[in-house]
Amino acid sequence: MNHPAPNCAAPIGIFDSGLGGLSVLRAVRAHLPAEQVVYVADSRYAPYGQRDDDFIADRTLAIGEWLVAQGAKALVVACNTATAQSIEFVRARLPIPLVGVEPGVKPAALLSKSRVAGVLATQVTLRSARFQALVERHADDLRVLCQPGHGLVEAVERCDIDSPELVELLRAYVQPMLDAGADTLVLGCTHYPFLDAAIRSIVGERMTLVDTSVAIARQLERVLDQHGLRASARDDESPADARLCSTSDGEHLRALAQALLNLEAPVERVQIPSRRTRELESHAV
Ligand code: DGL
Repeated sequence: MNHPAPNCAAPIGIFDSGLGGLSVLRAVRAHLPAEQVVYVADSRYAPYGQRDDDFIADRTLAIGEWLVAQGAKALVVACNTATAQSIEFVRARLPIPLVGVEPGVKPAALLSKSRVAGVLATQVTLRSARFQALVERHADDLRVLCQPGHGLVEAVERCDIDSPELVELLRAYVQPMLDAGADTLVLGCTHYPFLDAAIRSIVGERMTLVDTSVAIARQLERVLDQHGLRASARDDESPADARLCSTSDGEHLRALAQALLNLEAPVERVQIPSRRTRELESHAV
């Protein structure tokens, strides 16, 4: 495939299995307001946390290639699950720089006083070799309590960030961590920062919540600088345009972007077929 060389004015591609990457988009727009962004929510196939490894790699590559074809100059894989599972595979196949996300075990190891920290993430992230290596590297004297957040991605995908049922589900995940003395909670999935108020209503000030979205925006800035790809500053200080795309109907993406990012933009419904989704669809017929 031949693509024109990306230039500084080209957009950044950001993608997640669904709406969670909006937490990263929010940080990128705040930190790098001159950068245009194309955001893809693969909501039709979310959650990834229950998919097999090959499915996640297949989708991550197909969406990365689609974003390259849209002219993206860099790609942020704003999904812990896709990063844990596929970032090396996809990095080797795309012609643009990639930035991934990973649970904030390193900041938790620096912050925790009780030396007990909880990590809430998808099952796929928690069982990945990449996450295991992260814990080995940074959590020497830190006890790490890993909890898969079953049901949480689904809740955010339907724009539920504060229902009583959701708070009870969160309590079931977080209370055992508090009981075990954890004073730090790593939000190891980009959907979870939108549950921040619900989690606070349970833990109060007893836990520090670690969200890495600002660190990701800084890492993106470094990567753009390394490759000479930073957009020129504009006179207008408000964030540049964001194009929102969804593989589903996009209504929840539009609503959450408006409510949580104050971003009013129409959502384009896009089709990004891949080997595994073609198989799924042919079986459905
Ligand atoms: N936002 C994704 C993550 O950070 C959610 C994965 C999923 O769809 O299960 O892992």
